[in-house]
Amino acid sequence: MTAAEETTFADLGEVLVIIPTYNEAENIERIVSRVRTAVPGAHVLVADDNSPDGTGEIADKLAAADARVRVLHRRGKEGLGAAYLAGFRWGIDHGYDVLVEMDADGSHQPEELPRLLIALRGADLVLGSRWVPGGKVVNWPKSRLLLSRGGSTYSRLMLGVPIRDVTGGYRAFRKETLLGLGMDEVASAGYCFQVDLAWRTVKAGFKVAEVPITFVEREHGASKMSRSIVVEALWRVTAWGVTARLDKITSRSGRR
Ligand code: GDD
Ligand code: MN
Repeated sequence: MTAAEETTFADLGEVLVIIPTYNEAENIERIVSRVRTAVPGAHVLVADDNSPDGTGEIADKLAAADARVRVLHRRGKEGLGAAYLAGFRWGIDHGYDVLVEMDADGSHQPEELPRLLIALRGADLVLGSRWVPGGKVVNWPKSRLLLSRGGSTYSRLMLGVPIRDVTGGYRAFRKETLLGLGMDEVASAGYCFQVDLAWRTVKAGFKVAEVPITFVEREHGASKMSRSIVVEALWRVTAWGVTARLDKITSRSGRR
């Protein structure tokens, strides 16, 4: 591989970085420019849920000035999962080979994206992980650390997925992975979308790699994490875990 291929990732095909936004007016310009600098060959799709603070209009201006930036305007706030699914479909329809998930608020550092893409050369899904050696979280309160670690551990034990950071949202998928995991059946709206996709990827037999990242808490704007997002995650993960166990029992007794 030549030095140019090493940094452009041409061997992976066309890369699309999808950034879902809801009220990220203070963050969107900075994150898009950081992505464009960190991986100049990658294209950016902002998936905005009609943010009342004008994020969508700012994104339109960025797109007008840069052919590698596009905007998907959605009619209203329907959750992170719905925005990503729409972004994935848009990207696959437009011929992209690699689809990256990244938050708008700077928590997922674009400068770490080359490491995710390098790992994707040997995997079907790469997760940026806070909970593997070398991974870190900067500026999170204790309560959020406990929630995230607890959520990840609960999901891992309940579902039996061999992944340390199963709720993380900094990821790179190969198109084939998304096409093979049953995207059309995904109903998760909030952050449990991340658990849903990771679990589907494992169940479909794809290879998952985790690379350490440093997650930096946002400086501007507010998190959209809410009680209803936590409740959705808890009931869905529990229901998936229980169903999987029952399936195992019935298929075992069926064989007898
Ligand atoms: N379009 C759209 N619609 N975007 C949304 C919505 C929505 O309903 N809800 C959140 N977002 C966007 C935000 O604007 C931001 O760019 C990104 O999704 C992440 O939202 P945050 O509110 O900043 O998430 P967080 O920092 O609390 O949570 C992070 O950690 C979670 C748990 O590990 C994220 O990385 C999540 O992806 C992750 O699941
Ligand atoms: Mn955030």
